[in-house]
Parts: sequence; C-alpha cells; structure tokens
Amino acid sequence: MTSDSSSSGRIPQTFIDDLIARADIVEVVGNRVPLKKAGREFKACCPFHDEKTPSFTVSPTKGFYHCFGCGEHGTAIGFLMNYDRLGFVEAVEALAEMLGVEVPRTREDANPGRDGSLFEILKEADQIYRNALRDNPAAITYLKRRGIDGATAGRFAMGFAPDAWDTILRKLGTSDARIAQLREAGLVIRNEQGREYDRFRNRIVFPIRDPRGRVIGFGGRVMGDEEPKYLNSPETPLFHKGRALYGLYEARQVPGRPGEILVVEGYLDVASLSQHGVEPAVATLGTATTAEHIRRLTRITDRIVFCFDGDRAGRKAAWRALETALPHAGGTVELKFLLLPDGQDPDSFVRQHGADTFREMLPSAKPLSEFMLEELEAQVDLDSTDGRSRLTALIGPLLEKLPIGVYRELLLQRLADRVGMAANRLEALLLPNVETPSPTRPVERPAARNPLVRKAITLVLHHPRAALAVESMPDLDYVKLPGIDLLRHLLEVCRDNPQINSAGLEERFREDPEGRFLSRLAGEPPIDDELAAPAVLKDNVARLIERGLKDRQNCLIRMGNALDDAQRGELAAIGDRLRALQAPEERA
Ligand code: UTP
Ligand code: MN
Repeated sequence: MTSDSSSSGRIPQTFIDDLIARADIVEVVGNRVPLKKAGREFKACCPFHDEKTPSFTVSPTKGFYHCFGCGEHGTAIGFLMNYDRLGFVEAVEALAEMLGVEVPRTREDANPGRDGSLFEILKEADQIYRNALRDNPAAITYLKRRGIDGATAGRFAMGFAPDAWDTILRKLGTSDARIAQLREAGLVIRNEQGREYDRFRNRIVFPIRDPRGRVIGFGGRVMGDEEPKYLNSPETPLFHKGRALYGLYEARQVPGRPGEILVVEGYLDVASLSQHGVEPAVATLGTATTAEHIRRLTRITDRIVFCFDGDRAGRKAAWRALETALPHAGGTVELKFLLLPDGQDPDSFVRQHGADTFREMLPSAKPLSEFMLEELEAQVDLDSTDGRSRLTALIGPLLEKLPIGVYRELLLQRLADRVGMAANRLEALLLPNVETPSPTRPVERPAARNPLVRKAITLVLHHPRAALAVESMPDLDYVKLPGIDLLRHLLEVCRDNPQINSAGLEERFREDPEGRFLSRLAGEPPIDDELAAPAVLKDNVARLIERGLKDRQNCLIRMGNALDDAQRGELAAIGDRLRALQAPEERA
C-alpha cells in the first residue's frame, strides 16, 4: 500500500495529539502480539528481537511500548511504523481508521506558509479584536494612559479580547472543523474535560504579522496586574517564537533599506518608539534572541542595535543576544549593544526624555567586542592573577564561536593586552585545536547528564499533567545545565496542551534532534506514582533553580569589592529568593 502524499495536505498536529490520546495502544499491539496483563502494564516476548522471557511491555496509561531487552520503544504510531513497516502518514491513517475518524488535511501541501485557511481565521479574529477595542472604553483608556495614540494603535492594529470565554469561539467556531482550526491557530484551547474556550480574554491584543502583513499570532496584555502580564500565541504551523519579530512588518512599510534596526524587548517598546518616530524597532516575543532572529535581521539591515533595560533581566537578555550573535560578529553587519539606565525601558525612556535624547544616545551603543570585554571584566579582578586567568577562561568558549578571521585575531589581541600575555601564547591556550574539530563526537549526545535535569524531564514525560503543578513558568534562566532548554520546551508544550499524554509528547518531538533522547528516557524505569508526581516535579524544579541561583551567588560573592550597585542588588535578590525556596513548606 502506498499513500499519495503529494496530493494530500499536512496533517494538523492537534489531530495527531488527539489520535495519540485516544488510541488504545494495548489494542494496537495486542492485535499483532499476544499480550499478558502484568499489573498496570502488559507484557510479551519482544517482537523486535529474539527472546525467551518477556521483556517487552506496553503501558496503556502512557501510551508507550518499550522493550527492556533491545530498547525498542515508541507510541502507537511508532509501533505501526516499526511492526507493519508503514510510513508516518500511513501509520496515522491506519490508526485513524481503527478509531473510525477521518484524517483532516490542511488545504495546501507541505508549506505551512501557504496554509490559507489558518491565515484566514486569524485575520477574522484580528477583525473581531479590533472592533471590540472600539467598543471598549476601558481598553481605550488603558492605551491612552500608556501614551499610545489612535494612529499608533491603528498602525499596529491593536485590538481587545473581551472578558468572555467564547468571543472567538461563538463568532468563528461555527463547525467542528472550524473549531479544530481555531485550536490549531492557537485561538482556542480545549481543557481536560473536552470543553473549548478562548485563549485571549480581557486583554489588549497585539497582532503579530509575518513580513507580508498576514497575522500569524497574537500577544495579549492584561490591563491590571493579573498574571501572566503577557500571553502569547502558542507555537502553531504559522507562528514560531524563535523566528517571529514583532514590528518587522510595520517597520518595513517605510521604503528603503534601513541602515539600522533596534531590537527591544516588548510590544509596547516597539509601538511607543514608533509613535515617537524612532524607527525601525522590532521585539522578540518573550523569548531570548535566537540565531534565526539575527539571521533575518542581517539580511535586511547593516547594523543591529540591541537595546535592553539596564536592569539585571535586561543585561541578561543582552548577554544572551551577544552569545547568539557571535557567529555573525566581524561580518558586514555591525552588532551593537545599548543598555538603558536602570529602571528604564525604551518605552519609558522615550516618553520621559523624548525622541531626540533617545537618538543622541544611540551612537554610544557599544560594539559587540567592547560590550563583551566590559561585561566579563566586571566579573573579575584584573589586578590579580586569578582574575586575569578567570577572564581568559570565561572568554575562551566565546572566542570559539567567532568566525575565524581578522575580527577574532583583533579581539584576541585586545584580550592579550588586558591580561599581559603574548597573543599567540594566549591563542594556543584558548583555541588549542581550531583546525581539528572533533568529528567523533556523536550528534546524538545525551542532552541531560545532570541527574536533576534528567529526572525532571523523565517526570514530565511520564506524567505530563504534573507540569501544570508548576504554576508559573519557572525562572530557569539561571540554570546553565545541559538539557534545561529541552525541559523548558517540554513544560511549555504541556501547559499549552493540558490534555497531552506521554506518547503525544514523544510524537511532538519526532522531528526534533532531542526526540531520540526522549524515547530513551521514556523507557527508563518509571517514576510511577501519578499522585506524587506533581509535588516531586515542583520540588525538583525548585532544586534546579536553587542550584542555578547558588552558582550565580557564588560567582557574585567571589567578585567581592568589584560588585557594582546593580550586582549588589542582584545578590540581595538572589538571597531573598533562596531563602524563600529553602523555607520549610508550611504544614497543614
Ligand atoms: P516586560 O515585563 O519587560 O514588559 O516584558 P514591558 O514590555 O515593559 O511591558 P509593559 O510596558 O509593562 O506593558 C517584555 C516582553 O516580554 C514578553 C512580552 O513580549 C513583553 O513585551 N513577556 C513578558 C511575556 O511574553 N510574558 C510575560 O508575562 C511578560
Ligand atoms: Mn514597559
């Protein structure tokens, strides 16, 4: 049997989630392999290798099969692919047939950018939000109070999501197929009981547009101090946080190639700067600057100025942007960093001091190399041998990310001057095997060798619902351990899809390089207590954060007298947070 995949559209991820959640893996496997019940699981002799005693298990709750003998592992879809030798699409179709459901296809093929129906539904939602803003005096007052005038609100197509659970659902969810699309577009969420409701409620909404002006997602801000302050669309076939830049379309409405683009942190920073005529500016959407963001920007401008708050969070964001930008340093695009005075963001600064002052400040943005050296030198005492050697230790990994060339040589020279060493000696120490990148390192490295990270990932994988116990997205930024990004990603997916089960999670990562690693963890001895899982995960995440905070605390303490005011404040804040984490839980 072959499937004609060229004529069929893409299968929506939400459909695959549902399919996996509803599929009975015991039935799927049991139809092909005789299974015996053993406690909560089922056992059999492994169909994928020769054995006399059964080490092949099927877990109905998790939706997995796993062989402790040969390591074969997968979901119902994976089993059909492996056992019946089907392709992915065929396996999905076979499973859908078993459940008596039709596989929906998005209208156009392969390229999600051409999926007209999702664009259409987002456009309709955008219209509804914009009309609702006109009808809501409180929302208009809020924007006015934030200094946004009507023209700016119009240019950025700002809207308002009314305080109701079904504004979008009622107006646009006219059929099951439409509701499925609303979910795929990230506008509607389905809860564990199968009830659907609007994602954006009682929030100012900011449409996020692709370079052609089509709405691909939204950001929504509360008008009071509810949490979370901002809510963004989840990852959808059209919206990818790591790629989208808020304000890019609007910025490009001005003809000509901009000589410089500002990268700021917030929606309102972009809007407010634009209103004051400081353009073009774009914002990342609640994520760190990614390599893809930088690549996009380098294609359309000659200079990127990262303009972040001068507080701890802003410095951290700037540093992350720097690390990501390193491979582009020394190229034709200039990379600069501007940290605003502590307590100011671009919005507040331009409103307080005006556009001229803001523009006058721009040339003082620091070139990447300078910003990097200054930030690092602030962490060490250059007068001591220890400090100088620490500086070189810190800078080594950064230099490795720079493209080989003049720029790197010059930076190395500057560093050599600072630490009082000959440049070639330093190079030999820092970049010992530049010409021979090790080809032996396998691509598939266990992403988390730290037992805490590993345990947290395993827990989420076995008990996705436990992720909901971690109330707000934990601040894992301080935690610099391999696997942390994967953990964060998993937590996000679970929170965006409260109904997802273990197998569904694994399917989500089928195309992901981390996916193989996940299957391995999924096969680890389960941490089986469903009831205890949320508390254990919460505690585990708290310990990870604690460890990250302690590392940073130690680093700051070691700086001793070299601490500046901001760092002193940071140290105090870390102390507070650590005390809060370590305080014994109140007992009932
Ligand atoms: P900030 O907390 O710095 O807020 O978040 P802001 O931009 O200054 O917003 P206002 O001025 O209080 O309205 C910066 C950006 O981080 C993302 C949003 O993209 C926001 O614009 N963010 C922030 C979230 O995604 N979620 C949040 O809960 C908070
Ligand atoms: Mn702000």
